[in-house]
Amino acid sequence: MKKVSAVLMGAGNRGAEVYAKYALDHPYEIQFVAVAEPNRERRELFRQQHGISEDMCFESWEQILEKPKLADAVLICTQDRMHFEPAIASLEKGYHVLLEKPMSYDGRECVIMGDYARKYNRIFLICHVLRYTQFFSTIKRLLDEGKIGNLISIQHNENIAHWHFAHSYVRGNWRNSEETSPMILAKCCHDMDILLWLAGADCDYISSFGSLTHFRSENAPKGAPQRCLDGCPAAFECPYYAPKQYLTDNTDWPVSVISVDKSYEARHKALKEGPYGRCVYHCDNNVADHQIVNIHFTNDVTAAFSVSAFTKDCNRTIKLMGTKGEIRGSDGKNEIEILDFLTGSTEVIKFVPSKYGHGGGDFGLMRDFVKLVREEDMKRGLTSAEISVQSHLMALAAEKSRLEKRVINMKQFEEEIRNTV
Ligand SMILES: NC(=O)c1ccc[n+]([C@@H]2O[C@H](COP(=O)([O-])OP(=O)(O)OC[C@H]3O[C@@H](n4cnc5c(N)ncnc54)[C@H](O)[C@@H]3O)[C@@H](O)[C@H]2O)c1
Repeated sequence: MKKVSAVLMGAGNRGAEVYAKYALDHPYEIQFVAVAEPNRERRELFRQQHGISEDMCFESWEQILEKPKLADAVLICTQDRMHFEPAIASLEKGYHVLLEKPMSYDGRECVIMGDYARKYNRIFLICHVLRYTQFFSTIKRLLDEGKIGNLISIQHNENIAHWHFAHSYVRGNWRNSEETSPMILAKCCHDMDILLWLAGADCDYISSFGSLTHFRSENAPKGAPQRCLDGCPAAFECPYYAPKQYLTDNTDWPVSVISVDKSYEARHKALKEGPYGRCVYHCDNNVADHQIVNIHFTNDVTAAFSVSAFTKDCNRTIKLMGTKGEIRGSDGKNEIEILDFLTGSTEVIKFVPSKYGHGGGDFGLMRDFVKLVREEDMKRGLTSAEISVQSHLMALAAEKSRLEKRVINMKQFEEEIRNTV
């Protein structure tokens, strides 16, 4: 069995702690042979964990691509605005590519990457991990089998959870669309992808509303300082008080993000000095904290999608309505119900919870990518960069609709972007 060799660009949370963990658990399938990461602590930790030689550790992705091809595949897990250049250069160099979502914040770059996917005969997958979960892949199978007749409409909710939103979209990496991308792209390109997949047809019209309503300075408790640890008078009443999230016994994600050293002292220092100790009402955030999207597909299927920061649970709930029945489910509960109109019966499918992130999707995606690279099978993946272009354009069109308060015609939207390529 051929063992895949790989290079990691960006040894942060997703690269080092999620995808590369697969290599540690399956050393007979994949081995990392080089890493590019500017953060010295992270780079060194990755080097030691994967037994990489010193001369194969680099500070930036460009240095890897200056060398002759070092491995079969690259995993690009840098931040949102650092995906396009390394992806294009890696394909040109002959690597198979696994690229984190979003492909890009810019529709033009997404379209170019889709064109590259067609031009270069390489495996080029975007990390749409939900397709690889038991939950969503079972729903897809049930629809394809005609279990609820013809699909007519979908109601889909992404419940981000207040603490997750505060971590990622108020204090953290995805708080400001000028630096990364709008929330509907950063968080919900997954949902656009799933809806596109389940609807089974192209999207032709999309509209959206939403705003940043709560995490604004005018909503700060009276006397709240810039940082929670600077004697906030609302410490006991505020659900977003930073020590409540980061100074407990839990040192896994999202706490692992605030400091490589997970000791209490290091985390305390991170809250004193770093972005995660800031009051949620005094950050430089601008992304929407709630948004709805209405979608029409060319086969007349409609979808109503809602994403919100203001939920207790962190999960996705979905209802699919067909001519002969309904499918309902919550990926957090690991359960799907199928309701049959003719017999009145309800069938329940339960899944064993996965120990891997995103309901097992992180694991499933890596397993599939490794298998495809090993077999050099360009066609058989569950998805591809070419397909992902459409879901990214849907998210970008939703944002345009939100800002311009009008329905977006997807064909025109794509044409306008293509005219700039
Ligand atoms: N698929 C998913 O479900 C999912 C979930 C979360 C995040 N993401 C995406 O994954 C990507 C990475 O997110 P993360 O949470 O791991 O972020 P992160 O900040 O933890 O990791 C990014 C890493 O890239 C490194 N980096 C910066 N400049 C670099 C350079 N020039 N060369 C090489 N490395 C460089 C940073 O130092 C950092 O360690 C983002 O685009 C994010 O949107 C995807």
